[in-house]
Amino acid sequence: MTVDQAEMLRGLMRDSSLQADGLSAEPHEQPRPKLAQALAISSGKGGVGKSTVAVNLAILLSRMGRKVALLDADMGTANADVLCNVMPVHTLAHVVTGRRQIEEIVIQAPGGFSLIPGASGLAQMAALGTAQRERLIQQFARLEQAYDVLLIDTGAGIGPGVLGFLSAADRVLIVTTPDPTAITDAYAVIKTAHRQNTHLDARLLVNQANDPEEGRQVYTRVANVCRKFLGLDLPYAGCVLSDPHVRASIRNRRPFAIDDRQTQAAVALSALAHRLDKHAAEPEPARTGLLRRMTSRLVGG
Ligand SMILES: Nc1ncnc2c1ncn2[C@@H]1O[C@H](COP(=O)(O)OP(=O)(O)OP(=O)(O)O)[C@@H](O)[C@H]1O
Ligand SMILES: [Mg+2]
Repeated sequence: MTVDQAEMLRGLMRDSSLQADGLSAEPHEQPRPKLAQALAISSGKGGVGKSTVAVNLAILLSRMGRKVALLDADMGTANADVLCNVMPVHTLAHVVTGRRQIEEIVIQAPGGFSLIPGASGLAQMAALGTAQRERLIQQFARLEQAYDVLLIDTGAGIGPGVLGFLSAADRVLIVTTPDPTAITDAYAVIKTAHRQNTHLDARLLVNQANDPEEGRQVYTRVANVCRKFLGLDLPYAGCVLSDPHVRASIRNRRPFAIDDRQTQAAVALSALAHRLDKHAAEPEPARTGLLRRMTSRLVGG
């Protein structure tokens, strides 16, 4: 972000009386209800399996009794809606312009979770007008009050759109394959996100590994580099093996977690869902909504 952009954003913040986390409490403000825990699912390289992981995690967390929303923030390329065989009519773009309330764009997806079709450029909150941005922030916060977990399929790479979500999410799941370019790009995302948010809570999932040993080796390499160069502890989120069943479930547009319980992919993601859920149950400090945190961070608030 250039100095000019930062200045413009600061101006917008002043105009809309948006405030940084914790500073916006009015004297008579009611205590906020608990907001959904936000988990961003991201990768350096495209096509590594983010959307597959996101959709199936959403199903597994729903089965555990959590109210789960999956924000498809990577609209435009074949994504969560395609994997779930649903067709969004309205997106967050309609919410931004005030044509729809956020509840009206939510789609009930097979497997028991809610899919929220994003809008391209959603993460570039800075480009929105003040009124539109504020409307989106408020509508989104309402949604977060209704759910326990908010998964965000961010799309690949280190563009500002993706980084906004990574720095504002409570936790980040980075997906890589054993492919050397995917590993290098995964590290680049972690490094850039860590630079923006030194409290980054990230973990690494290795997808399409040939065997568990390969998954563990890939993890160890990335974790060692993160420890050495960033001083960052990167926990292992496990590995999902390269599996024709997974490929078939994608082709058939029926997420494997709906039917499979015993396949390696289902067991690995189920274990991850339980670990994530344990965290979600921990008490949390009062927080503002995800989009407000994104805006606050954009302006360095
Ligand atoms: N565990 C797996 N076993 C076999 N194939 C897999 C596995 N995971 C993903 N794939 C293959 O990888 C492809 C890409 O998966 P997916 O769409 O989830 O990736 P993505 O990271 O969301 O991609 P994009 O960056 O384009 O959004 C799938 O269509 C499927 O063919
Ligand atoms: Mg995807």
